[in-house]
Amino acid sequence: MKKQITILPGDGIGPEVVHEAVKVLEAIGGKSKLELTLSEALVGGAALEKAGEPLPAATLDLCRRSDAVLLGAIGHPRWDSMPPERRPERGLLGLRGELGLYANLRPARVYPSLAEASSLKAELVRDIDILIVRELTGGLYFGRPRGIEADRGYNTMIYHRHEVERIARTAFEAARRRRGKVTSVDKANVLEVSQFWRQVVVEVAREYPDVTLDHIYVDNCAMQLVRNPGQFDVLLTENMFGDILSDEAAMLTGSLGMLPSASLGSGTALYEPVHGSAPDIAGQGAANPIATISSVGMMLRYSLNMAAEADKLDQAINRVLESGARTRDIAPPGSAWITTAAMGAKIRTAYLEM
Ligand code: IPM
Ligand code: MG
Repeated sequence: MKKQITILPGDGIGPEVVHEAVKVLEAIGGKSKLELTLSEALVGGAALEKAGEPLPAATLDLCRRSDAVLLGAIGHPRWDSMPPERRPERGLLGLRGELGLYANLRPARVYPSLAEASSLKAELVRDIDILIVRELTGGLYFGRPRGIEADRGYNTMIYHRHEVERIARTAFEAARRRRGKVTSVDKANVLEVSQFWRQVVVEVAREYPDVTLDHIYVDNCAMQLVRNPGQFDVLLTENMFGDILSDEAAMLTGSLGMLPSASLGSGTALYEPVHGSAPDIAGQGAANPIATISSVGMMLRYSLNMAAEADKLDQAINRVLESGARTRDIAPPGSAWITTAAMGAKIRTAYLEM
């Protein structure tokens, strides 16, 4: 099996964590019949610097011709004062839009040995197994009109029927393979767009009588996530709400450095850690590569048809964490931690030994 993968290291800690994840991918490829061709390209701030735009046409073209894309992270305070069109983030949003990646899957699960690293009590955290299904190419992020003028700035939260239907189907299908429960997040007590969202989700739910559907207001959802996260199975959400709730859910699992994501559409899929570019710790070996390595796991599962290898990779990560190895973000205060590269090497070794 031949596969073409595009690697987009991006900014900040992106290149460091991607470097480790690529080595893991190569190790897995080397042990299977997979013939991988990896090509690196520019996106985000790195692309602004070297090519003058956040998403060069050559990058987009390469992604379109690939079976999957692995991305590190995007953004740096250097570009904070740039107009939105010239910010690094536009590179990522452009990729999502151009590749039609409407379904963002963000699983939040706790590795048992990390339950103590959560900001919540360990007993609340042990049962967290949530899949956030975030709509990724509509809503407030993409809605028109949008603009910035001398005395006003505006964005539009708009959803079309087909957009809600397809993301709702993604959530219901996923729930079927999990614990059979979808909780749809909205703000239907205030927003028309949310009332519409709720109505369409209820219609789609009729096709899935075996799945339970609940609705929750986004503010209550944010509260319930810290009060009793074990109640959620699949959370179905609008783009912006999902952005916020996924950071919150990630932190519950111990560190933002642990959570992977998959962005799926009808063509090439993109895999990236949920965390950002963390420019403050870039180049220090202090970044946690696990979120990116787990994103490779999601790539194996969703793009490369290698679910068994994905399970094995998950077990390898678990084994390394059980052994007590910790990067700085998940190490108890004052205790020893290992570098990004050391963590990557341990996971590779554990995988190869299994
Ligand atoms: C994320 C990030 C992005 C988003 C940024 C970098 C554009 O926060 O993937 O969650 O807001 O979607
Ligand atoms: Mg985010």
